[in-house]
Amino acid sequence: MQKKFTKDLSRTIKELKKKRNAVILVHNYQLPEVQDIADFRGDSLELSRVAATTPAKVIVFCGVHFMAETASILSPDKKVIMPDVHAACPMANMITAAQLRTLRKEHPRAIVVGYVNTSAEVKAELDVCCTSTNAVAVVNAFKDAKEVIFVPDKYLADYVSRKTGRKLISWDGFCPTHMRITAEDIKREKEFHPFAKVLVHPECRPDVVAMADAALSTSQMAKFAQNDPAKEFIIGTEVGIIYRLKQDNPTKEFYAASEAAVCPNMKRTTQEKVVWSLETLKQEVRVSDDIRRRAKKAIDRMLEII
Ligand code: 13P
Ligand code: SF4
Repeated sequence: MQKKFTKDLSRTIKELKKKRNAVILVHNYQLPEVQDIADFRGDSLELSRVAATTPAKVIVFCGVHFMAETASILSPDKKVIMPDVHAACPMANMITAAQLRTLRKEHPRAIVVGYVNTSAEVKAELDVCCTSTNAVAVVNAFKDAKEVIFVPDKYLADYVSRKTGRKLISWDGFCPTHMRITAEDIKREKEFHPFAKVLVHPECRPDVVAMADAALSTSQMAKFAQNDPAKEFIIGTEVGIIYRLKQDNPTKEFYAASEAAVCPNMKRTTQEKVVWSLETLKQEVRVSDDIRRRAKKAIDRMLEII
């Protein structure tokens, strides 16, 4: 019965998508039922690139709010809708535009780099944006800068600082989901699976990153798992990605470093809500023109670098 219901829903979604000239963008952490209806599934950078170039009139964003905002900034002529507009990223809410302006005043010579996990208002205050895929390359692109501010994730800042050898002025932001993965978890899983490679997200705590074979964005993890000869992987990121990893690599094994690494906001979107959003064309995510223009500059600058 449940299976038939899901099948009916996905058929309805297909029909509505055609009627609305819509594309469904899905982040790698979404529920399996949502990943199954994706036109594009990817990490923050990949989804931004698709949002910037899709010929569709409507973008249904299955992810969190800052991602839909980024899509709207890049494609202002499109209607960007979220099946659940309350899906927020707590890390993105850890810094405000006013706080960033104060920080910039304290360091007037600094280049201001901001993680894509920020609000549009904060992006409007940045010199350049970055994602976990390109954060190192973005900071490296400003070799001549006397100082670099990096907000809001203190752990991503730590990772980038180690990789670039530069001291960064960071902020006290963090991801509550990745925080739950501890060095103890990695140690335990390595004992259970001694041949497994450890892949973690750079939002993890530094001691967790230090124990990993690689620190990667979610789609970089997907590529690594496909191309690497290892047959087993311990995955230190939000558990939703394991569905994709197993789908892409049916002969390999994937173990969550911690089953507690669940992002509740990423789980708010369901197939039923996607149907509702396509039927009603709600909830629309829009950014005011002034903020959008300034935020777009920071995103475009990132897209030019990588
Ligand atoms: P990715 O860009 O690696 O998909 O990361 C987004 C995110 O929110 C990680 O928590
Ligand atoms: Fe934000 Fe963390 Fe959820 Fe990613 S996993 S959306 S950083 S709270």
